[in-house]
Amino acid sequence: MISKQTIDEIFQAARVEEVIGEFLHLKKSGSNFKAKSPFVDEKTPSFMVSPAKQIWKCFSSGKGGNAVSFLMEHEHFTYVEALKWLANKYNIHIKEDRQLTPEEIAATSLRENLSIINEFARDHFVNNMHNTDPGKKIGLSYFQERGFREDIIEKFQLGYCLDQSEGFTKAALEKGYKLEFLAKTGLTKTKDDRYFDFFRGRVMFPIHSVAGKVLGFGGRTLKADKKVAKYFNSPESELYNKSKILYGLFFAKNAMIKKDLCYLVEGYTDVISLHQSGIENVVASSGTSLTAEQIKLIKRYTENITMLYDGDAAGIKASFRGIDMILESGMNVKVVLFPDGEDPDSFAKKNTATELDEYVNKNAQDFISFKSKVLLEDAGNDPIKKAGLIRDIVASISVIPDAIKRQIYSKECARLFDMEEKVVNAEIGKIRRGKIAKANNVRPDDLPPPDFLYQDQIEAKPEPKKSRTYDQERDLIRLMLNYGTNAVRTTQVVEEDGFEEEVQTEVSVIEFIVLELEKDQLEFKDSILKKIYDRYKEGLDNDIFYGQRDFTNSDDQEIAKMAVDILTAQHEVSPNWANQNVYITREVDKLDKAVLQATYSYKIAVLRDMKDEIQEEVTELFKDDISNREEINTLLAKQMKLDKIIQMLSETLGRIII
Ligand code: CTP
Ligand code: MN
Repeated sequence: MISKQTIDEIFQAARVEEVIGEFLHLKKSGSNFKAKSPFVDEKTPSFMVSPAKQIWKCFSSGKGGNAVSFLMEHEHFTYVEALKWLANKYNIHIKEDRQLTPEEIAATSLRENLSIINEFARDHFVNNMHNTDPGKKIGLSYFQERGFREDIIEKFQLGYCLDQSEGFTKAALEKGYKLEFLAKTGLTKTKDDRYFDFFRGRVMFPIHSVAGKVLGFGGRTLKADKKVAKYFNSPESELYNKSKILYGLFFAKNAMIKKDLCYLVEGYTDVISLHQSGIENVVASSGTSLTAEQIKLIKRYTENITMLYDGDAAGIKASFRGIDMILESGMNVKVVLFPDGEDPDSFAKKNTATELDEYVNKNAQDFISFKSKVLLEDAGNDPIKKAGLIRDIVASISVIPDAIKRQIYSKECARLFDMEEKVVNAEIGKIRRGKIAKANNVRPDDLPPPDFLYQDQIEAKPEPKKSRTYDQERDLIRLMLNYGTNAVRTTQVVEEDGFEEEVQTEVSVIEFIVLELEKDQLEFKDSILKKIYDRYKEGLDNDIFYGQRDFTNSDDQEIAKMAVDILTAQHEVSPNWANQNVYITREVDKLDKAVLQATYSYKIAVLRDMKDEIQEEVTELFKDDISNREEINTLLAKQMKLDKIIQMLSETLGRIII
């Protein structure tokens, strides 16, 4: 755990406009900054950054927060990753709460060592390709002949490993890197006491992490010799775990969010060529067949995958397994097959960007029609084969977790094969029952009826119910956040020499609200708002004033999110932030009234809530039987009392508003 002290230091140093400025083009707009939303495609900028409040808000997507939450949203960092990124940017040394175990230190430092070597190697290979004779003649000209533009070569940090036995390794050793670590990265092979460059004579494709660090390499041979493996890839290590890596993800993630779609291709060169044609939401599962972890990575950014595969048998087979895995993870999948002998790379080279785009859009098939078409060609008129194929497709449908989607596909399947929907559903049910039974170690017959299995996922989780006083609680917090230390007038009863006297005094907004609520021993119902209120109260008791930032930068994510939401709420801060000042000026002028009004409205809401609760009790008692008369009468009396107080308060409130 990063120590609390370090977290505070990071929050103090981080400037939200500087952090966001690294990712978006910010334009000054009054005292704020504006940009186009990175989360949706839009023409007019609706993304706002307030340097004064140190918060941001995207009015198109409703997202908002502080510097940390921006990194979490935009870069999909975890909380800790975001803190580490900021610490690095602002040169803050991270102190850990607890001592790391020797194993943890060793693992971290090993990963760091491997990572440093990989970055060195990337630079070395890039430099070799551009600044040495053989590099230019062999490596660079290879890429140029393939039609890769200079800017694309640079973007993907492509390089060349000279065809010498130890050019790289020597340079790395001279730089002081240990042979042991060089061997772990796979860049150097050792044999007895000799060593040589593993990738010699190959063009190099660095493979990046989500954050853009080099985790490993793919190296392509330039020889036509069929006996030499076309690609070498970095071996598995503490740093490089191929089943958790997608080639191109670092360059694709923002486009994936914007387009809400991910193109999945097979090779490094497919990714690069599509980028060159302007299609950036593309990744490759290079060197492995698609894994569940890779699918999860994609799901962070979008739920829609379109697989772009070449039309040969191997490509198609590979896509089948992938399809089921994608469906199983609840995502949507389509397939585009390229004409025989073409892959996305070669197709992109032969056609314009527009033609490519058109081809992909026209030929994207949903998985049922794709799979049926392929299998139908196989089956011909053989009825037994055809039955097998239907079962195959039904099996694919049965892995879809969402019942509604399952239903849609089963309809489609029935239509396609001219079958009764009932029959398809029954088959899906059977497969699901079999699986569920197996998972629970029971016989399928012991499970509840099939209807139940269809219903299992239909019911959406209900939104947690907001308490009846939620709006009023939120308004009180809004006032405390906006005008906490502003003074408001109030009358207080003071005692002097045994005489009680009413005097006019001034207290802060926070004091006013806390005193009013304490008087009636009221507690907030909403747990997050209560956390904020309690902190104000605690601050008041200890003479600490908490400002907006203490909440928007809270390490309690719930508090931070709530504070930002309140400070950027639509009615208060419109996209046209200039108007905001007008509104606030007015409220500031009438702060006495505003605070009093909010407090009374809250108290009335609390009383109404109590009344409603009593009403519910009464209704219950009526349902039971008539012998509860006495109890009911007591409750009704209570209700009347509450009514009177509500009426009194309402009248006072009426006078305040006028
Ligand atoms: N691959 C690999 N090892 C091999 C062959 C292929 O790891 N011996 C991986 C690479 O990631 C490669 C992908 O599988 O990018 C697809 O292979 P292929 O289609 O043969 O290569 P391309 O990417 O099309 O490369 P090129 O266009 O240069 O032939
Ligand atoms: Mn290719």
